[in-house]
Amino acid sequence: MSDVTIVPEPVSLTLGTGSFTLTPDTVILAEGAAREVAAQFCAAIAPATGFAWEVMPAAPDSKRPAITFRLDAARADLGAEGYCLTVTPKQVVALAPEPSGLFYAMQSMRQLLPPAIFRPAFVEGVAWEMPCVHIEDVPRFGWRGAMLDVCRHFMPKAFVLKFIDLLALHKLNVFHWHLTDDQGWRIEIKKYPRLTGVGAWRKESLVGHMRRDVEFKFDGIPHGGFYTQEDVREIVAYARARHITVVPEIEMPGHAQAAVAAYPELGNLEEPVEVRPYWGISENVYNVEENTFAFLQDVLDEVLALFPGEFIHVGGDEVPKVQWETSPVAQTRMRELGLANEEELQSYFIRRMDDFLTARGRRLVGWDEILEGGLAENATVMSWRGTEGGVAAAMSGHDVVMAPTHSTYLDYYQSEAREQEPLAIGGYLPLEKVYAFDPHCEGIDEAHVHHVLGTQGQLWTEYIPTPEHLEYMAFPRLCALAEVAWTPAGRKDYADFLTRLHFHLQRLDGMAVHYHKL
Ligand code: ACM
Repeated sequence: MSDVTIVPEPVSLTLGTGSFTLTPDTVILAEGAAREVAAQFCAAIAPATGFAWEVMPAAPDSKRPAITFRLDAARADLGAEGYCLTVTPKQVVALAPEPSGLFYAMQSMRQLLPPAIFRPAFVEGVAWEMPCVHIEDVPRFGWRGAMLDVCRHFMPKAFVLKFIDLLALHKLNVFHWHLTDDQGWRIEIKKYPRLTGVGAWRKESLVGHMRRDVEFKFDGIPHGGFYTQEDVREIVAYARARHITVVPEIEMPGHAQAAVAAYPELGNLEEPVEVRPYWGISENVYNVEENTFAFLQDVLDEVLALFPGEFIHVGGDEVPKVQWETSPVAQTRMRELGLANEEELQSYFIRRMDDFLTARGRRLVGWDEILEGGLAENATVMSWRGTEGGVAAAMSGHDVVMAPTHSTYLDYYQSEAREQEPLAIGGYLPLEKVYAFDPHCEGIDEAHVHHVLGTQGQLWTEYIPTPEHLEYMAFPRLCALAEVAWTPAGRKDYADFLTRLHFHLQRLDGMAVHYHKL
């Protein structure tokens, strides 16, 4: 297999003989909606080759070698994201029923070329050849994602765009953007300017591991940043052009301290709070007053206008109930609503958001704590505390995304030699363990397995202060996760993956990715 080293491994691949050589005279053919992908291919190929191709509707001379991108309704069997790619010495033909499939064919074509194709400037002396192959390929799961926490450490827009490029390279199609948390609110909301005016900035950050038995040390360095709505539109459009849906996460009712710092009336206490300068779980959750629901719905109105995707993530994880237990307002509210306990109050909170989003044609997704106190009718569950929550949700007819700590938390240590690694949150998640994960977890029967939408890797950034460090934690583990999400379980082979990865890392070198060396 060493001639072809595509990551993630395609469903079916037959190696032919000979190769197709790219030259300045190669013609690029595409019509209609296929033109966009063809133009993306030309743009991807241009820097390293220096070839200035143009996309044409038909060949001026049928003898000239051609690369064709064609939408083909007759191949509807390939589904919304599948493709067929045939490389012969004379031509390359990419077929798909939908543009997404052509986009993935294009990603495979880039990976059939020498890895130097990923270099950002002209590379001399390379024969730009693709081996002759026939590939038929469809993803195993429709939700293939990565979550980026930009709250604990802000990540600049330029990096977010690079991260999206890296998702696209690996045929990942969901960018879950964790935009609000205790340590920072990162999205401009026009109606509530203090969310970013105050909530996007903390006065300092914790140094070293957070341990309750050791006195906290702080760096004394202000930290913050946020994305304007213009930035968000740009990022969403950039992702969309790469067939990636952005799922924004607006956390509630917990992980809300930055919002409460900006607007104290959203909280449960009399005294003000600051944007939290250390990690862990804050007790400063939203109160349950009508004004707070109105605030959150206003926020979601602006969020819905920016993010056209179906799913909106409302967090829902790690909600200490202590302030609700002692708040007369919350206790009165519980009695009025006939709720037995604070878990049911949290469930009431999420149900209201579910109703709000459902009425607007969207779908709520939340971390698996939203199961506690009763799951909202239309909710999708993101199972992080293991897979049990996801299994229970799937078996009760809800869609789930498998994101368990044990196999998908890419903020965990990736080698056993911790002392040789940069500080990480803890845990141990080696490449091989990510690779071995199967989202069709035990306990989900055949009749419910379709509820497993897919999986995603988590990049929480308490201990990841910079883009370079983020890349180090994400890669190559995200390459393994991509294969978990794309490749049929029966075609996965860790030894073969490692062989392909060896070549694949040269592609990441070309893209200047600061990955963890094997
Ligand atoms: C989580 O890690 N709190 C979802």
